[in-house]
Amino acid sequence: MDAETEKRLPKPEDLKEMTRQSLAAAFAGESQAAEKYLVFAEQAEDEGLPQIAKLFRAISFAETRHARNHLRVMGGIASTADNLKTAFDGESFEVDEMYPAYREIAVTQENAQAKRSIRFALKAEVDHRRMYSEAREQALKGEDIPDEPVSVCLICGHTVIGELPDKCPVCAAAKEYYRTF
Ligand SMILES: [Fe+2]
Ligand SMILES: [Fe+2]
Repeated sequence: MDAETEKRLPKPEDLKEMTRQSLAAAFAGESQAAEKYLVFAEQAEDEGLPQIAKLFRAISFAETRHARNHLRVMGGIASTADNLKTAFDGESFEVDEMYPAYREIAVTQENAQAKRSIRFALKAEVDHRRMYSEAREQALKGEDIPDEPVSVCLICGHTVIGELPDKCPVCAAAKEYYRTF
């Protein structure tokens, strides 16, 4: 992009409220569609329909491009230290308010599967919050976090930095069920 074009583009801080809200809604919708299509692709694979699975994956990827564009234009991307604060705040909201409230609903309505899926998420979000907090301390010093594997349980999302447990402490899945990054 040349300097002239750059100058003419509105800056995130100039966003009018309804523009910001519509971009936020579009970002949420596109992000959800992207994830949903990936799950639909797995279903299509299971049904022996690999080309339809491919179509779902490709369109999922397109939706992620839309989501990223919306996030950028709405000013949702900052320095890594600030992004870690945003991520920490999001996880904190889930841990302190959202999932405890959702858990109560699942309990009241006696939905065991909802209770389980909420318990899995809540447990992981506590770890995510701590990891983001520790990473932010480093980023504020201009330093990266140590070079260690980060692994996630494919069943419940339990997240661990460093050595893997023999089995997942949240859902009891075996070590082999972790994906390492
Ligand atoms: Fe999380
Ligand atoms: Fe697990």
